[in-house]
Amino acid sequence: MKGVVLAGGTGSRLSPLTRVTNKHLLPIYDKPMVYYPLQTLVEAGIQDILIVTGGNSAGEFLRLLRNGKDFGLQQLHFAYQEGEGGIADALRLAEPFAGGERICVILGDNILENSIRPAREKFEQQSEGALILLKEVPTPERFGVPVFDGKRIVRIEEKPKVPCSSHAVIGVYFYDGTVFDRVRTLRPSGRGELEITDVNNSYLFEGQLSYDIMDGGWTDAGTFESLWRATKMVREKVLLAEEQRLAAASAR
Ligand code: DAU
Repeated sequence: MKGVVLAGGTGSRLSPLTRVTNKHLLPIYDKPMVYYPLQTLVEAGIQDILIVTGGNSAGEFLRLLRNGKDFGLQQLHFAYQEGEGGIADALRLAEPFAGGERICVILGDNILENSIRPAREKFEQQSEGALILLKEVPTPERFGVPVFDGKRIVRIEEKPKVPCSSHAVIGVYFYDGTVFDRVRTLRPSGRGELEITDVNNSYLFEGQLSYDIMDGGWTDAGTFESLWRATKMVREKVLLAEEQRLAAASAR
């Protein structure tokens, strides 16, 4: 399976932090933001990875990540999104890279505490279609929100004023090779973007969308509050690991 990190857009909600640099190069505790989604893919066993970027400082991704050696990779692929036509518009650029294979797409501002490997394995059992991940959140109206009938999702609403559930669709998506045909049928939403939620609904309406609930911490980092939350989450994880390392060393 190939991996795609979507790190385009202007990050306007973080202005003026993003006036001269790219949102995904901003620090989350001790690393640049883009390191985290990249690490999430690598940890799940995905080695062949495309980074789609755009906006400010796009060239700095190459300087920062080089060939991906810090992640144990032999090579990284890069693509450039003109403008900010939305998440599905950025995804379009991955079509030649994917070459008809299955892909795992992760948004460049999504920070996860736990592994997505179990979700990858679940998707590999599926003969076709897509798999999305959900997480219960206090502010679902900021996200894509599933509408449930029992345990079955009947549709996904993007940033609903009145959310029908307390779950958010997080920014990790597993797609089969039909995803790019689906993107081609999309029309821009009210906010002028090609929406990833419309891609997911296209699978759903054909009975080809499954889901899993993600365990462990998750946050995006595209607003001041969530950027701060992401930093706090990573810091706590780093400090805990250091504490455990010291405890293990002193027990030896
Ligand atoms: O974080 C999960 C949420 O991400 C989902 O629940 C929503 O359904 C989904 O639409 C998205 O919502 P946001 O409004 O928070 O997405 P945002 O515009 O912040 O973009 C998230 C990432 O997607 C961003 O860090 C980089 C990438 N992106 C975004 C746009 C608009 C691109 O690569 N190109 C773009 O044009």
